[in-house]
Amino acid sequence: MSSTRLLPGGPVAESVLNDVAARAAVLTEKSVTPSLATILVGDDDASAGYIRIKQRQAAELGFDSPHTHLPADATQADLHAAIAAYNDDPAVHGLLVQYPVPGHLDYDAALQAMDPDKDVDGMHPLNMGRLALGMPGPLPCTPAGIEALLAYYDIPVSGREVVILGRGATLGRPLAVLLSQKRPTANAAVTVVHTGVPDWARYTQRADILIAAAGVPGIIQPEHVKPGAVVVGGGVRYEGRRLLPDVDESVESVAGAITPRVGGVGPTTVAMLFRNAITAAERAVAAA
Ligand SMILES: NC(=O)c1ccc[n+]([C@@H]2O[C@H](COP(=O)([O-])OP(=O)(O)OC[C@H]3O[C@@H](n4cnc5c(N)ncnc54)[C@H](OP(=O)(O)O)[C@@H]3O)[C@@H](O)[C@H]2O)c1
Repeated sequence: MSSTRLLPGGPVAESVLNDVAARAAVLTEKSVTPSLATILVGDDDASAGYIRIKQRQAAELGFDSPHTHLPADATQADLHAAIAAYNDDPAVHGLLVQYPVPGHLDYDAALQAMDPDKDVDGMHPLNMGRLALGMPGPLPCTPAGIEALLAYYDIPVSGREVVILGRGATLGRPLAVLLSQKRPTANAAVTVVHTGVPDWARYTQRADILIAAAGVPGIIQPEHVKPGAVVVGGGVRYEGRRLLPDVDESVESVAGAITPRVGGVGPTTVAMLFRNAITAAERAVAAA
């Protein structure tokens, strides 16, 4: 029997969401209902499913969740008008545009049209800048979820060698910034490897904590991992409804601790979305 410790995201998410619900209740007592608005363009089934999950979660936490569904042939101006309406509505504290948008639309332009303080995905350029500068602001959800997961399981990060495979804007790059910040749950020696480093295994093999953020199924094999290391699988590719993780299942035999192939980082990402939303609501109330 393997002695590898599993690090599921579910309990981490539950603990974050319990805190969010308590904070939502405090606002409700002050007659403010926290509100997370969503915008969906088109009829992609998976995207509609993600919106439903977020709305269900919102209801459980005591949030309002106003929603705008634009047709697949909506123009960039239509999308920006929907964003502007939520930007200007003081009762809406958080906003997200479900990714991806149809190919004729520019998602980055839509992101930039959002009020950065309502950007619960933490992906607005201003929020990326705040992250780089260590200023308060909504954090990108998947990187923040990974920091929370490591902290929840008392995995020491400070002073340890963290190697991240992938430098993408949603995961690898912001995670490198986050885990190198001066904070007890971060403070690591972080190395980022990618296609520009063909011998990347040389780096992953010495990692105390290895984080896969490539989106290449099975790219992390046992020979890439130091025996006993902590392995976090962030990267996944979807083939239809099948989820194909970066970390091969055989890695479990060498890792000391590992996120499960399903129910690892994913649940923490959603929890961080609501943590960003409740923080935005609290800030708005404090500023009013
Ligand atoms: N679990 C979740 O909740 C969640 C949430 C968000 C994202 N994700 C997943 O996280 C992954 C990363 O997302 P992203 O948007 O940051 O990705 P991205 O922009 O596609 O970046 C992928 C990175 O992986 C590197 N890479 C790809 N193939 C490689 C190879 N063969 N060898 C070495 N490096 C390689 C790329 O290197 P180059 O830069 O050199 O091209 C790039 O830096 C995706 O799989 C995404 O689905 C998961």
